[in-house]
This record gives sequence, C-alpha cells and structure tokens, in this order.
Amino acid sequence: MSDSALPEHVRENRAYWDRTAYDWVAAGERAWRSPQPYWGCWGLPESQLGLLPTDMSGMEAVELGCGTGYVSSWMARRGARVVGIDSSERQLATARRLATEHGVELTLHHGNAEAVPYPDRFFDFAISEYGAAIWCDPRVWVPEAHRLLKSGGELVFLGNSPLAMICTPPSGAFREPRLHHSYFELHRFDWRQAEVDPGGIEFNLPVSGWLRLFRETGFEVLDYLELQVPEGSPDRHGTPGSWAHCWPAEHVWKLRRRS
Ligand SMILES: C[S@@+](CC[C@H](N)C(=O)[O-])C[C@H]1O[C@@H](n2cnc3c(N)ncnc32)[C@H](O)[C@@H]1O
Repeated sequence: MSDSALPEHVRENRAYWDRTAYDWVAAGERAWRSPQPYWGCWGLPESQLGLLPTDMSGMEAVELGCGTGYVSSWMARRGARVVGIDSSERQLATARRLATEHGVELTLHHGNAEAVPYPDRFFDFAISEYGAAIWCDPRVWVPEAHRLLKSGGELVFLGNSPLAMICTPPSGAFREPRLHHSYFELHRFDWRQAEVDPGGIEFNLPVSGWLRLFRETGFEVLDYLELQVPEGSPDRHGTPGSWAHCWPAEHVWKLRRRS
C-alpha cells in the first residue's frame, strides 16, 4: 500500500521509526543474543512476567510491530513458526540481518499491523511489545488481532500504562508525579510538536476502555499486570526509575479469543 493511502498515524509512525531505527540497533543486537526473554524498558525477566508459552512447538505466531525482531526470535527458538510485521523498512533491515546472523528462520513483512495480510483464524498466538501495542489505534488493531487468531488463541501485549501517559508532560519531557492529561479522554497522543524526541503518534485507553474493547471484540482477560521496577532502577526512555518504582510505567494484557 502506498504511504498516501495509509492512515495519518501509520504514515507518521513509519517516518518516525525509519528516522530513529539506527538508535535501536544495539538494543536489538543485545536482545537477540539473550537466550532468555526480557521485557519492557527495564528488561524485566520472563521468569517474572511469563509472557510466552514455554513450548511453542507447532504454533503459528505473529508479532505485531516486530521492530528488530528479538521477540520473534525468542518464539522461533521455542518452536513456533513466526511471522513478524513492521511498518518500518529500516527496523526490518536490522531484523533481517540479525535473523541471518543467528540462523533463525522468520517470515518478515513490511506492512501495517492494523491490516495484516493473513487469513482469519491463522495464528495460535499474537504478541506485541511496544509495537502495535502503543503505535496502532487499539480500536483497529485489537479487532485485527482477534480476526487473525484461532478460537482459544492468545494475544499478549506490553506497553505504557495509562497512568504513565497522563503523567507525561506535553513537551515530551520526563514523566512526573503529576497529572497532565484528562484520564477519560485518553486515546491519541500526537508527539510531533514535542520539544523532547519529537515525532510519532501513540495510543492508549483508560483501563475501563481497554476492558470494554476486549469484551466487545470477543476476548476474555486472562491476566493484567502493572509492572513495578526494583528500587534504584535507572531512568529509561523518559521515565525516572524512581517514578517506575512507585507507579506502574508499563502494563501487560494477556487475552484469549473466546470463540
Ligand atoms: C519500540 S519498537 C517495538 C518492537 C520490538 N519490541 C523492538 O523493540 O524492536 C516499535 C515498532 O513498532 C513499529 N510500528 C509502528 N507502527 C506500526 C504499524 N502500524 N504496523 C506495524 N508496525 C508498526 C515501528 O516501526 C517499530 O519498529
């Protein structure tokens, strides 16, 4: 699909990620080298969060907004056949290079996670870590993930918590222990005019909004995690470690397609 036919946020986010992809190469390389998955801005261990099935043998899995592809690599090493989709060619170039270097077979698509070119009920498992989870409109990508999953298939995603978003100043500066946005209006955050790291359009919902969306889409909630980082954790990507120790900077939803 040509860029001009894409929704505004998908076009903006593609340009933003093509522009910044180089900054994520080292972190991607580090995660590809790790046999054990770790998650989010503070690298919390899989043993604590349990986002992936231990054995994924024979499973069809998709990563929505796969970036440098390390989550896809962890699923492939657990036995899954993995499709990664990402809208940034530059991010995919890193993913392709690392897949070759590590000898891991992945199917990598350049495309929009809000419209994945796969048939209904194709996948057993779908995941997003800071991919579609924050850069796509939940009212579009969550129903799309539901369409892609078989009955009983699971969707797991990790991203910024709603609280973290309302505590982020409009300038894009570090999160504060202060509310900057209306909680009930929480949906679209356009960072193109931000002073710090300008660019990109992110999404989130109030917790009740996520729950309603899952219910209306046909997902049941298996678990909801609000992540706390250990005391003394470093600052990460606009969040002071002390903030993320006191309040949940990140959340995880674990969902199952009902029928
Ligand atoms: C922070 S990365 C997360 C991926 C992975 N966990 C990583 O860190 O490499 C965010 C990714 O989401 C991708 N993305 C943003 N909007 C997208 C869309 N509409 N469809 C597919 N991917 C998208 C970006 O291109 C970027 O590679």
